[in-house]
Amino acid sequence: MNVFTDLSQLTQEEFEEILHFDAEFFDYPWTRAQWEECYSSGNYLISYKPGYGFCLFHLNFYEQMAHLLKILVLPEKRTLKIGFDLYQSALVKIENLSLKKLYLEVAVDNIVAINFYEKLGFKKLKLAKKYYSDGKSAWSMLKLL
Ligand SMILES: CC(C)(COP(=O)(O)OP(=O)(O)OC[C@H]1O[C@@H](n2cnc3c(N)ncnc32)[C@H](O)[C@@H]1OP(=O)(O)O)[C@@H](O)C(=O)NCCC(=O)NCCS
Repeated sequence: MNVFTDLSQLTQEEFEEILHFDAEFFDYPWTRAQWEECYSSGNYLISYKPGYGFCLFHLNFYEQMAHLLKILVLPEKRTLKIGFDLYQSALVKIENLSLKKLYLEVAVDNIVAINFYEKLGFKKLKLAKKYYSDGKSAWSMLKLL
């Protein structure tokens, strides 16, 4: 498990694999331009297990908050605690940075992810109607550290 506090620490090959995972397996993938913006900005943290998946946070030091933007485990590797390990490895770094809360949004019908986040201690905060580009609503969720 690799954890980087700056995406530019990834090799080009690793960066491309993460983009591929995102494009292939996420319901709402980012464009290359969005990923490149993320790569060139310093306030992101990624945990990454080559061939298995990744977990990406945006770090907001002003609000002392880490925003979980994406977590993905490849379909054939799910339910083996890889997601938990990706999250936990990132969490150790986030706690070392003295951030105080974790925040995320998740589509209301993504029951597996909602179960996963509740298992990690996140609580539903509020419903954002028509949050996604396809009109789907999202739960925002919060965990205090
Ligand atoms: C959500 C996701 C990252 C979980 O990763 P994972 O490695 O399969 O999960 P883990 O094995 O670490 O599971 C940890 C806990 O999550 C919950 N969970 C995971 N998969 C579940 C499932 N299919 N059904 C119900 N609960 C589940 C369980 O509480 C589990 O704990 P338990 O095994 O003690 O019951 C994975 O399903 C995934 O990549 N989904 C697609 C991408 C996505 O929706 N990401 C979130 C939105 S950004």
